Amino acid sequence: MMRRERQRLRSARTLGLLVAVVFLGSCTTAQHYPLPLIVAHRGASHIAPENTLAAFRLAWELDADLIEGDFYLTSDGVIVAHHDDTTKRTANVDRLVQEQTLQELTSLEVGSWKDPKWAGQKIPTLNQVFETVPPRGKVLIEIKSDTRIVEPLIDVLRDSPLVGEQMIIICFDAQVIAHIKQRLPAIGAFWLCDFQERGIGRWEPTVDQIIETAKRIGADGVDLNANLNVIDAKFIAKIRQAGLEIHVWTVNDPVTAKRLMKLGVDSITTDRPGWLRSQLDRRRR
Ligand code: G3P
Ligand code: CA
Repeated sequence: MMRRERQRLRSARTLGLLVAVVFLGSCTTAQHYPLPLIVAHRGASHIAPENTLAAFRLAWELDADLIEGDFYLTSDGVIVAHHDDTTKRTANVDRLVQEQTLQELTSLEVGSWKDPKWAGQKIPTLNQVFETVPPRGKVLIEIKSDTRIVEPLIDVLRDSPLVGEQMIIICFDAQVIAHIKQRLPAIGAFWLCDFQERGIGRWEPTVDQIIETAKRIGADGVDLNANLNVIDAKFIAKIRQAGLEIHVWTVNDPVTAKRLMKLGVDSITTDRPGWLRSQLDRRRR
């Protein structure tokens, strides 16, 4: 064979090999990550005043899968949506939510602190929040009161227009979750957990401590502060092996959200449900 012909053959073989490697490489590395469920934190609270009917309704319009709201027991035994323990920030009335009656709380105006265009928004009851939920939607009910809320809550859950699986309880207080699961085992409940750095790179609670508590109180899953110093593939694998769901809050940054999506969390709670969904959707490969 002529020297030039051999060279041509060698180049053709090298090119073919290169094309095959690139093709196979693209086949094996391209992965389409499933979108986690998107939870609207305190409703669509980036735009609308948190924990109001306006914020919850907007969340559904923005295609949230779930809404999250914070709930207290009033002094006369009704469950209402509010985040802080007082109404100072939202209504400029420096009184504890739990020491006010339903009538006192619903006379307050909790929209204009966000923007004058939201003036007139009121503190809603848990029942009113349920009425916003479409058939496809679910509610994460964050309990901010102590265990005294459990019996009134069970009454509201039993009389709710929603089906059981549309209502999920979340709470930082493990005792509250334990009480609810004892009284109503069929209701979904996730234990909320935040992390503290006890020394450089030493975060608590550890994954084993989280699993131990979640199992002891009968939780179906955990809902964790989205701390990427702690949450990695090994951490998630342990939670999954324990048979627990894993949810995270509160993520408004698409880079962090994408990392969590790749790690395979079940849901991401965000103040910006519509925007974050579109950001994640275009980052799925
Ligand atoms: O979804 C959990 C998250 O809402 C907990 O924090 O302070 O916003 O109630 P916080
Ligand atoms: Ca909350």
